[in-house]
Amino acid sequence: MTTPLTPEVLVPRLGEHLVQTGRITETDLKKALAYQKKKQDEGKRCLLGEALMDLDLLTRQEIDHAVTEQIIQLRNALEDANRFLERRVQERTAELQEALRKLSELNQMKANFVANVSHELRTPMTHVKGYLELLTTSSLGPLNEEQKNALQITQRAAGRLESLIDNLILFSLAARGEMTLKLESIDLGKVAGNVMNYSQSKAQDRNVGLELKAIPDIPQVQADVEKLSWAILQLVDNAIKFTPAGGKVTLSIQPETDTLVTVAVTDTGIGIPEARLDEIFEPFHQLDASSTRHYGGTGLGLALVREIVTAHGSIIEVHSEEGKGSTFSFPLLTKALTD
Ligand SMILES: Nc1ncnc2c1ncn2[C@@H]1O[C@H](COP(=O)(O)OP(=O)(O)OP(=O)(O)O)[C@@H](O)[C@H]1O
Ligand SMILES: [Mg+2]
Repeated sequence: MTTPLTPEVLVPRLGEHLVQTGRITETDLKKALAYQKKKQDEGKRCLLGEALMDLDLLTRQEIDHAVTEQIIQLRNALEDANRFLERRVQERTAELQEALRKLSELNQMKANFVANVSHELRTPMTHVKGYLELLTTSSLGPLNEEQKNALQITQRAAGRLESLIDNLILFSLAARGEMTLKLESIDLGKVAGNVMNYSQSKAQDRNVGLELKAIPDIPQVQADVEKLSWAILQLVDNAIKFTPAGGKVTLSIQPETDTLVTVAVTDTGIGIPEARLDEIFEPFHQLDASSTRHYGGTGLGLALVREIVTAHGSIIEVHSEEGKGSTFSFPLLTKALTD
């Protein structure tokens, strides 16, 4: 491969160029360089061209001509270099596009796989739950205390499995960009009340206080009631889960302006290190690697909460201090503006 012509290579080579094009000999060049050095040693400025003229080796016109030739060469070299760079950029862009295409294909396959598997899991779960129900209500015969106890545990486990399957289905829909919202005017106070009722026993079991802070007449918001309730429930569930006994969780619904209501879940729990605040919203990310055993869960909750909040045109924010607690919040537009 020839050395590419770059400005650095070309510019300082006037002498070489003059020799190569037969305008002067090597000896002439050496003479001129020696003359130039002598002048410079005397403290005078002397360019190579001037030295050649002083020594009557070349005329001004001949030197100008040689310099012009070099400028043209330089321009051509720059154009070549530019073309080379453009080609490289095009090649790299094509490579990256191909990599991106493969990645989205893989992502799509993953989402399809998760969707198919979770749908397949749902059907047998319906049978499991149905028969458990029949057993617990003694429809299939009387039960002794021990059997009742065992059935209760099995029912709770089935409930957990079912909610995991539902989360996976929701996750695969979101990953395929197929999560749709059924928007309607909803009463946030009612949603909050339901979440409180649902979470109360869990909070009590863990000896964590659970409080609702809301004004009586919260303006209505446009939202998908099922998904929004689910998202708030996840936040409250996390808050209870990551707050040690004796701590407190507060769900607050506060109108901020005429058109905005903020939903916030605050806890006095273990908190989240600042550097990891982004990570917790990634699917399957849990801060403590052993938390699967210690706290339970799959790490899908917050990823889905973010999808749901974003689908409502809002943004979820988190503030947290390690060892002190966390607040997750997001604003919603009241119906007043969306009407
Ligand atoms: N209120 C909180 N306080 C401290 N850490 C939290 C809190 N909420 C979430 N986290 C951290 O973020 C991680 C991800 O939360 P996420 O809700 O997505 O998953 P999970 O609760 O572990 O499992 P899942 O919600 O699927 O049952 C948690 O495992 C935990 O490490
Ligand atoms: Mg969770």
